[in-house]
Amino acid sequence: MNVTESSSPSTKSKGLFGWFDKRTGLDSVLRETLDEPIPGGARFAYVFGSGLIFIFLSQVITGVFLALYYVPSADHAHTTVAYITKAVSSGSFIRSIHAYGSSAMVILLLLHVTQTFLYGSYKGRRELLWLSGCGLFGLVLCMAFTGYLLPWDQKAYFATAVGTNIAGEVPFIGGWLKSLMRGGADMGTLTLSRFFVAHVLVVPAIIFSFVAMHVYLFRKAGAAGPISENPVAPTSPSEPFYPKQVIVDAAFALLIILVLALMSHYSPFELGPEANPADAHYLPRPEWYYIPIFQWLKYWPGSLSFLGVVVVPSIVAFFFASLPFLDKRMERRPWKRPFAVGCYVFIFLALFGLGGLSYRGDHADPGYDAQLTAQAKATDDFMKQPFQPEVSGGATAAASAASSDPQVAQGAKVFTAHFCNACHGTNGAGGPMAPALTGIHKRLDADHLVALFNAPTEKMTKGGMPKVTLPDADMKALVAYLGSL
Ligand code: HEC
Repeated sequence: MNVTESSSPSTKSKGLFGWFDKRTGLDSVLRETLDEPIPGGARFAYVFGSGLIFIFLSQVITGVFLALYYVPSADHAHTTVAYITKAVSSGSFIRSIHAYGSSAMVILLLLHVTQTFLYGSYKGRRELLWLSGCGLFGLVLCMAFTGYLLPWDQKAYFATAVGTNIAGEVPFIGGWLKSLMRGGADMGTLTLSRFFVAHVLVVPAIIFSFVAMHVYLFRKAGAAGPISENPVAPTSPSEPFYPKQVIVDAAFALLIILVLALMSHYSPFELGPEANPADAHYLPRPEWYYIPIFQWLKYWPGSLSFLGVVVVPSIVAFFFASLPFLDKRMERRPWKRPFAVGCYVFIFLALFGLGGLSYRGDHADPGYDAQLTAQAKATDDFMKQPFQPEVSGGATAAASAASSDPQVAQGAKVFTAHFCNACHGTNGAGGPMAPALTGIHKRLDADHLVALFNAPTEKMTKGGMPKVTLPDADMKALVAYLGSL
């Protein structure tokens, strides 16, 4: 039988490669991959897709290293991230590559979409390719959202509180959606483990399958080539993917990792103080790519939120996803598609505009400005402190030392359960928000303490300390615990 050249050109190969090839068909797979014809030849404009795959792999690898230390629970998440940042060798560097990598991913995504859009490369039987790309767009935003909470610092906690509250605004299913995300009414360990599972298992698995689909559909349709080209039956002489485009893509990947490494080395990604749910003054700000949406939602208060949160974004997403179904002309040159390009530019300008308004809003109001500066300073201060390990697994040291007295141990639990430690520090040792409570029993006896809890002083209220109302037994335990400090 005559073996045709294209079906199995490698039957002659010998040695280790031949052995391997006979069992895997590696040679034809490589040929299939590397010989992909690119009409009009290699170009820098085509690097963004493979750049995205590269950065995704970098996220997977750095993510695996982070997961070696990370514990997704409200008691330990922040300590473990602090440990990675301050104690693990190269920990801060790897974490920074991962954190900056998420921004790089969003930037590359926007560049990839823009290139596809301007080149009209979604045309010519590429509807499913475009749709799988839209799916990937959403999935990347999901990764950014779920990853943001994991360090469990102030920024993470309050931005995610806002994000999940927004989900709560969706009509009919909002309440359900919000408690599904949070694992209950409030944010805590259940929220963290849900976000963690989504971030490291569920969403990446879906991304892998979507990437496979996207690449397959891309190969099936073929590279669209330059803007003058017919997207279905290109006529310009083509060049194989290897070597020129591979080299350009590799150079781009190198550039990405170089930029990330320089940023991570010279300006390591920060970690703020641990989340303090009792802090009523914290001004949440999401990562930069969510700022335009964040600003947008401010214009839709109360009963209008339905329009801002659901209707308008759904319309935009719907038209965006159906683009190749709506725009069926084969014309690809941007200047011949003024309406489509105009819409695209408009959306981009709107996003930039919203970002600008958000920035101006923050800096025009002196109260906001001061609070944001204080928050940035708290983060800087926290970064300068050396790593502090947890005392005996999250529970307080006093509790274990005094575990002979069950009332004191119970009081220690009340103390942490009501976030007293968030302001007064672990074991009431004091913190930036409130003074130490050690030796408090020398100044205030049990009755005075209870009275104080029922009627907090002005200073306490100003400092954000809530009125403490507890069942009798818990109150007694709390007072006993305070007496043990
Ligand atoms: C939001 C931060 C915050 C939280 C949470 C908080 N406190 Fe306070 N607490 C303060 C501030 C601020 C003061 C006032 C300090 C001052 O008078 O200078 C204060 C004062 C006190 C005092 C009086 C201290 C003194 O020296 O007179 C006690 C006792 C106390 N808190 C106990 C608690 C307990 C118990 C809890 C948990 C149920 C708690 N606090 C939660 C911020 C907080």
